[in-house]
Amino acid sequence: MRLADLTARMAGKIDRPLVLVGMMGVGKSTIGRKLAHTLGLPFSDADDAIIEAAQMPIAEIFDQFGEDYFRDGERRVIARLLDGGPCVIATGGGAYINVETAALIDEKGITVWLDSDIDTLVERVGRNTKRPLLRGGNVREIVTRMKAEREPAYARAQIKVMSDAGPHNATVNRILEALEACL
Ligand code: S3P
Repeated sequence: MRLADLTARMAGKIDRPLVLVGMMGVGKSTIGRKLAHTLGLPFSDADDAIIEAAQMPIAEIFDQFGEDYFRDGERRVIARLLDGGPCVIATGGGAYINVETAALIDEKGITVWLDSDIDTLVERVGRNTKRPLLRGGNVREIVTRMKAEREPAYARAQIKVMSDAGPHNATVNRILEALEACL
């Protein structure tokens, strides 16, 4: 089927937010934006919405108030985004690990786990230093440990798609195919 036909048919069937979950560096924001554009849906980045609500960068929220405070704000921001009707939401890597936030996402959204191998994640997160949980340690070790710890939570998502080193458009197409099969 032509991509335009596939997306038009699917956009009509999506009655809830599509929520992208998965490790930092996997490409949730870039892919989420492209997916939203393809489907003609609004896009929200939960991290950006937190930064806007708090009026400070994420690293500063962690430094000044701690991770629990950040997770609390993250849950409230995601709850608000989930109430906004059909859209695509990119979440921060820890959102779906928080039990309360995950329960909200499961209740109101269609969950898509984006996964990559460790090499791809390390390569992608290596490009910026804004992530507080990657400071002061060996990035490959931290990412490897975190991925192993978090995988059981991510695996509860309804759809799993690999986001490997190839072009993001290929990942968007894989998400569309997986959605078509589950909607
Ligand atoms: C975090 C991931 C980050 C951001 C915060 C915490 C995590 O988002 O929410 O630094 O716990 O994995 P990205 O996944 O967009 O990097």
